[in-house]
Amino acid sequence: MSAVLVRQPLSPSRPIFDAAFFSDPYPTYAELREAGPIHWSEEMFGGAWLLARHADVESVLRDARFSAQRTGGWVMQSQQARGELRAFQQLFARAMLFLDAPDHTRIRSVLNAGFRGEALQRFVPPIERRVDELLAGATEFDFMQALAQPLPAEVMAMLMGIASIDRCDFAAWSADLAAFIGATETSPYLAQRAQASLLAMRRYFEQLIQRRRLAPGDDLVSRLLQAESAGTVQSGAELLAQCAMLLFAGYETTRNLLGNGLQVLLSHPEQWQRLQREPDLLTAAVREVLRYESPVQYTGRRVATDLVLHGQPLRRGDLVIALIGAANRDPRRYAQPDRFDITRRPGDLLSFGAGPHVCIGAGLTLMEAEVVFGRLLRRYPRLHLVDTEPRWSGNPVYRGLSTLPVRQIVAAAR
Ligand code: HEM
Repeated sequence: MSAVLVRQPLSPSRPIFDAAFFSDPYPTYAELREAGPIHWSEEMFGGAWLLARHADVESVLRDARFSAQRTGGWVMQSQQARGELRAFQQLFARAMLFLDAPDHTRIRSVLNAGFRGEALQRFVPPIERRVDELLAGATEFDFMQALAQPLPAEVMAMLMGIASIDRCDFAAWSADLAAFIGATETSPYLAQRAQASLLAMRRYFEQLIQRRRLAPGDDLVSRLLQAESAGTVQSGAELLAQCAMLLFAGYETTRNLLGNGLQVLLSHPEQWQRLQREPDLLTAAVREVLRYESPVQYTGRRVATDLVLHGQPLRRGDLVIALIGAANRDPRRYAQPDRFDITRRPGDLLSFGAGPHVCIGAGLTLMEAEVVFGRLLRRYPRLHLVDTEPRWSGNPVYRGLSTLPVRQIVAAAR
């Protein structure tokens, strides 16, 4: 094949990531979807192919010719940070999210059992209890601070067998990693902070692992240690990378689902009220939130072998960005995609990815979100948004709110 590599400039003539994008990325996504199936953008990571249509996003995530090994590019695009980020790269690149088969399959098989339905059911009562405790007595509060941030961190701690006293720095470590991963043009400052936080997480897990070796429990860290003894997972970086990745992957995403969900439900008050009358719609409502405001807006892959996609030659090593947030609003896949509708049956969701790397925590997340919204609907039937304009945090990957002030309207006494 001697196709000439032509990197067409991105179809929209303006930059993608302007201020308007962060408050409403959907017009840009629509422009990309309609302008063509594949676009080259210099704006992302020094150059990447963008896919915005549902069918393309799904097929790339399922196609082994697109590799999940992509951390090198993130780290290396920051010239100044190159030397200093070696430790970050060595650890992060071992996480299963960034591995291909057979290493990916080997590690995923160890963790799968910890995410089965029966293993998760035991978390329902403690989650219900914590939701009630975190919201006790509040009638006007910032939902992000009161519940959406602390609860997912606590659930991840339960899953990993982390005692409550130890949790304090997770939010800060996670924020540093999210800022680095979310930056489409990284800076040495962001990179160094992410590395410092990842290394702090590593030290934290080294100590936890020592304790868990002496007293194993029924948690993910103990499961990884059993696999280490059986020779399925390697000691050191491989084991530590899974711990750090799990904690980050489960926290950053779920808190944004909870915040985005409450924001979108309260900005459609007739649907919030309908959910109170018809709680059986809750499962569909959570799935519709995931489609409508996906907490993960895109993921990346590297082209593993020269190939042609939609007539466009791609070279081995090229970065491909699969725009999940755009795919979720593709009119080829969903009728009236910009309409939020809790009675919609969205089918398989791309919000959790697809193919071998499909989110391992999806069942846990759906359960947690149903508990939270179920509790809120019962306790706060008259909950309202305080601000009409949502305050998006401005991270292109992790779409979420920095604050979400809400108020329960108290009925006037007669
Ligand atoms: C709203 C919540 C969540 C969303 C939207 C979400 C989204 C995703 C997506 C899109 C992927 C695939 C990434 C790719 O293919 O590149 C993924 C993978 C993953 N997620 Fe989630 N996630 C959520 C919650 C969780 C939770 C609660 C956990 C852990 C308890 C978790 C752990 C993981 C892991 C470990 C992977 C990598 C799986 C693999 O490589 O095989 N996620 N998630």
